[in-house]
Amino acid sequence: MDFFEGKRVVITGASSGIGAELATQLAAKKARLTLAARNLERLQEVANACQKAGAAALAVRADVSREEDCRALMEQAVKFGGGLDLAILNAGISMYSRFEDIRDLSIFNTLMQTNFMGAVYCTRYALPALKESKGRLVVVSSLGGKTGLPTRSAYAASKHALHGFFESLRGELHASGVRITLVCPGPVLTEVRQRALSSDGTALGHTSIDESGSMSAAECARRILEATRKGKREEIMTVAGKVGQYARLFVPGVIDRIVRKRVGL
Ligand SMILES: NC(=O)c1ccc[n+]([C@@H]2O[C@H](COP(=O)([O-])OP(=O)(O)OC[C@H]3O[C@@H](n4cnc5c(N)ncnc54)[C@H](OP(=O)(O)O)[C@@H]3O)[C@@H](O)[C@H]2O)c1
Repeated sequence: MDFFEGKRVVITGASSGIGAELATQLAAKKARLTLAARNLERLQEVANACQKAGAAALAVRADVSREEDCRALMEQAVKFGGGLDLAILNAGISMYSRFEDIRDLSIFNTLMQTNFMGAVYCTRYALPALKESKGRLVVVSSLGGKTGLPTRSAYAASKHALHGFFESLRGELHASGVRITLVCPGPVLTEVRQRALSSDGTALGHTSIDESGSMSAAECARRILEATRKGKREEIMTVAGKVGQYARLFVPGVIDRIVRKRVGL
């Protein structure tokens, strides 16, 4: 029997990219899925495909930046699954602008509210059920949660906040049996860059960022599920990310230079 078979799972940000891939791969393993995002039409398509693959799947419209939506989402997930084993907190948005060029500072509120508070709200309302099952929180962070990313300052800040929060919570939850996996993908081929907020707060729509060498969403989802199955604390997904975090301790200037070059500065 597969590790995920029959597991009751909620995934935020399941209407596209990594979240949709996670749903597809978990459906093939016969997990019981509650899928959340704002675009209900796209989300329902993912849920339909999961059902066709033989899994039970429910689509729930939820904006994770709203506490009330997260409360209602977890209530529905627990009802649909008859409990909850796994909460995958994946919903997120990015931004792309030098800090000084940002004309609308509310970009910072939007990113913190979605990427950070969205995970906090979902955790708060998933916890009672996760404690009952001694389940797991899987948090989709980024390499930007481990290092600064010039031109993505609000994004990196929101992802760093996830690490501070979940590393603290891990200690508080130790005795309860609830475990936490933080995953840090490098670049993944999804819509995240087109949807990223630009200096005026509107979606970028296109990017000139070199995406060669990016991971596929399918491979990223596969690695997230593997880290989950193995009960890892943290999964850094690229060799450069793994080496970089140690190298930064000894040659931070060199790492800064490499990161600047990578973002085209
Ligand atoms: N792609 C990369 O290079 C990369 C690298 C590292 C980390 N990540 C992280 O991976 C996660 C998934 O991103 P992705 O690359 O798969 O991008 P994506 O294709 O743009 O998917 C983002 C998902 O988040 C959902 N979402 C955004 N805002 C939301 C909100 N307020 N409430 C509920 N759902 C919301 C979107 O659905 P709706 O628009 O329908 O709400 C969508 O399903 C993010 O946390 C991202 O930071 C991505």
